[in-house]
Amino acid sequence: MNAVGVAQPRIEGRDKVTGAARYAADVPVPGLAFGAVVLATVSRGRVRDIDVSAVQDMPGVLGVIDHRNAPRLNPKAGGFFGPDGQLQLLQDEVIPFAGRPVALVVAETPELARAAAEALPVTYDEEPHDTGFTADHPAGRPAVTLFDEPVNVGDVEAELAASPVVIEERYRTPEEHCSAMEPHSATAWWEGERLEAIDSNQGPFTVAVTLATLFSLSPDQVRIRTEHVGGGFGSKGLCGPQLILAAMAGRLFGRPVRVTLTRAQVFLATAMRPATDQLIRIGADADGRLRAIWHEPAFEISTLAEYIEGCTELTKTLYAARAIRTRLTAVPLDILPPYSMRGPGAAPGSFALESAMDELAERLGMDPLELRLRNEPVAGPVSGLPFSSRNLVACLREGARRFGWDTRDHRPRLRREGALLVGTGLAASSFSAGAFPSSATITAETDGTFTVAIGATDLGTGARTALTAIAADALKVGTERIRLRISDSRLGPVWSAGGSRGTTSWAWAITEAAEKLRGQGYGGTVTADTTRSLGDLPSRERHAYSAVFAEVTVDPVTGEVRVRRLLGMFAAGRVVSPLMARSQVIGGMIGGLSMALHEEGLRDPVSGRHVNADFAGYHIAAHADVPDIEADFVPDYEPGIPMGVKGVGEIGNVGTAAAIANAVWHATGVRQRSLPIRLDRVLE
Ligand code: MOS
Repeated sequence: MNAVGVAQPRIEGRDKVTGAARYAADVPVPGLAFGAVVLATVSRGRVRDIDVSAVQDMPGVLGVIDHRNAPRLNPKAGGFFGPDGQLQLLQDEVIPFAGRPVALVVAETPELARAAAEALPVTYDEEPHDTGFTADHPAGRPAVTLFDEPVNVGDVEAELAASPVVIEERYRTPEEHCSAMEPHSATAWWEGERLEAIDSNQGPFTVAVTLATLFSLSPDQVRIRTEHVGGGFGSKGLCGPQLILAAMAGRLFGRPVRVTLTRAQVFLATAMRPATDQLIRIGADADGRLRAIWHEPAFEISTLAEYIEGCTELTKTLYAARAIRTRLTAVPLDILPPYSMRGPGAAPGSFALESAMDELAERLGMDPLELRLRNEPVAGPVSGLPFSSRNLVACLREGARRFGWDTRDHRPRLRREGALLVGTGLAASSFSAGAFPSSATITAETDGTFTVAIGATDLGTGARTALTAIAADALKVGTERIRLRISDSRLGPVWSAGGSRGTTSWAWAITEAAEKLRGQGYGGTVTADTTRSLGDLPSRERHAYSAVFAEVTVDPVTGEVRVRRLLGMFAAGRVVSPLMARSQVIGGMIGGLSMALHEEGLRDPVSGRHVNADFAGYHIAAHADVPDIEADFVPDYEPGIPMGVKGVGEIGNVGTAAAIANAVWHATGVRQRSLPIRLDRVLE
């Protein structure tokens, strides 16, 4: 019996395509009231007045919550990066960014709530704001050092001075928004001093801990369920404004309150990727061997919360170089707090690094594939640690074979088809792998089935399907005997669906629980917690890898870039669910295409406000934007992690933007160092 590695369709697929699956805003709850959020329209200042009397008597309106009557929250509440001022909603009249919630209007129906929210008069005392990000902004300062920054290995200056070829360029990426199909929605109610919620998030347990801290409750007084989640991409990793406001309203109005963000509010009030501006210097010998990589990214943060866009992740591990230096600069501004989004750090960072590597290959007159093979490290270039498993070369070679790379003429602007210029490009990439402490409980039922309970959540990734296979193999039974329970904070401490560490963390807990249960003869109930075994995991360079190949056409008259072909070869450990994993990395690659050509959050420099906070103005690639897309996996196995798995959540995103930018150069002979590669940039 072997379920891991077998192509099983999505367990909840039928429910989803028939509409039976319920997302957070669909779950029926008796006695429900609805809250509509009002967001600040100025980038900095104070609320002067909110005229509640103007809407109080509108039909169906139950009331308004603002900083004058909101429950007091615990200022210590935070998340991964420490205390987070973004959670402190409606605590005072201060406006730290346009899009900050200033009120919640509660009414009997969503339509009445929204009509009253739109009619609510809010006046402000505006203050001068600063939303203009530049790398040399005077407010810039070293980013907090959570990811071992800064790095200084070898003598970068001496190696650059000794390099016959040096690339020194800046690469820029804009603000991007997670844009999950399902807008953020929460329904909350109180049973005495207990808080219940149905929410759309990436980790009901961690979100419940944050919510409990915010409302000064013990974690067992809070229960959060997340049955189906329609995508998160990082923006649902936090305790979101919808949940905090619903919990406040549930308390004040004494009944369940549902708060669903509008699409515009998802843009304006939930996590975005910060803009980056990255200086890279690479020095190499004439044979392509790297002497030095010096990568200094700057990125914007808000004044409310720390955050790290770890753009140097790949710089520290992808290539051998005698000297490597990295330094991250954070620039605090009056903007929506940035947070993790789809391959955080690695996605913009790889655009810079893999574009610069392509520029180096051009200067050397070398095959960009050969340049990468020539700089394959034997150990972590910065850490000195051995690689746990590193199959980047296999990805590059197999991808090149399938893509037909060996017939490529590496000089630019040689291929034409009618009026169109044609080019190809590649990028290598990695995303860190690993696991975080988690717990799982398995009960042997009297009918021969096993109830496997873990507080995991399925964002549409296929977690249900993957964990069912893992549990079946761990228990050495068929999948039909597994009853999986997920999506509930009550199921115990567990890592979230984030950081590409969901499947690894949850598989580990399920495997340990299954071993315990088998050890006691398949009877009773066991709980396993992986905190201790994770502590015994040897330190290694652990990463998933990919090689992405792109073919583009460029219309030299209109500047239009079309991606005609995308191929990704991935080394992502043992593949648990082949269909789900392929779907994940293909989705990630389309996300990377979107990043390359379309996605760009724009601000009005005068008001500091977003001007394209909707799908009319903020463009996202769809399936039709790439007629030929293929992804596959090379054999890979992660030692030390049960089942040998790595994550597939983010590696699909990383690398694609650079592969496309490099293909655009190959087609046109012009480098695109700022994303997205808009028509006007191509025509410049
Ligand atoms: Mo992810 S950006 O860790 O949801």
